Amino acid sequence: MSNKPIGIFDSGVGGTSIFKEIHMLLPKENCIYLADSKNAPYGNKSEKEIQELCIKNTELLLSKGCKLIVVACNTATTNAITYLRENYNSSFIGIEPAIKPAALSTKTKAIGILATKGTLSSQLFHKTSDIYANGVKVIEQIGEGIVPLIESGKLYSEEMKNLLELYLKPMLDKNIDYLVLGCTHYPYLIPVLTELLPKKVKIIDSGLAVAKQTKAILLKSNLLNNETKVPSIKLYSNGNLEVLNSILKHQFKTEYLDF
Ligand code: DGL
Repeated sequence: MSNKPIGIFDSGVGGTSIFKEIHMLLPKENCIYLADSKNAPYGNKSEKEIQELCIKNTELLLSKGCKLIVVACNTATTNAITYLRENYNSSFIGIEPAIKPAALSTKTKAIGILATKGTLSSQLFHKTSDIYANGVKVIEQIGEGIVPLIESGKLYSEEMKNLLELYLKPMLDKNIDYLVLGCTHYPYLIPVLTELLPKKVKIIDSGLAVAKQTKAILLKSNLLNNETKVPSIKLYSNGNLEVLNSILKHQFKTEYLDF
């Protein structure tokens, strides 16, 4: 049993899609969330730069006593989680594009993956893709510009809709029936994506799977929090707090922190 917080970080506000799943599944857990919006997007940075940012976020969360760290960012996971696991004495849970369930369920034998350049060019992504894509066409698309739009509060803008239309077209031309969201910012686009996609295309987002994995690891390590008092939830951003607040629909208290 441990009442220490779960630490969660992302390049910005997107990882709150994971935080919300964790909070829903594990409502007694204290949580600290870091939105590194000042350095977003991570997707166009080099592996080394991404690793350096992940080190900074990890050390801050560890200095705040976190018992486990959730890397709530596909780009950070695919470029840095191996390094983090090798260099820190803490458990890390990451998120990668969910190719496996899409590849196993597709009937048209074509699936689409929307993710950042950093994720799609990583070794870890290619490894996973090679294992599971077996006989299935995987149409990869870099979501260039999506994260910056979300980070500047333009989630439901005309600009966003146009970008998404452009990115979905090659996938729809190849008759995909699954779209894998390979970036934790993208679940916030589901209302727009649903409007743009034909009904037969299912959207796969792995937020709940990450929350379940977090629970399983805490249970296995005997680190779940059994205290009954209201948990402490701290959400920090080093960018525009208004963007974080609006994505969270003002449901949680947030704070500016320069990190
Ligand atoms: N949420 C991050 C991810 O899952 C966004 C990466 C970025 O900042 O470009 O990949």
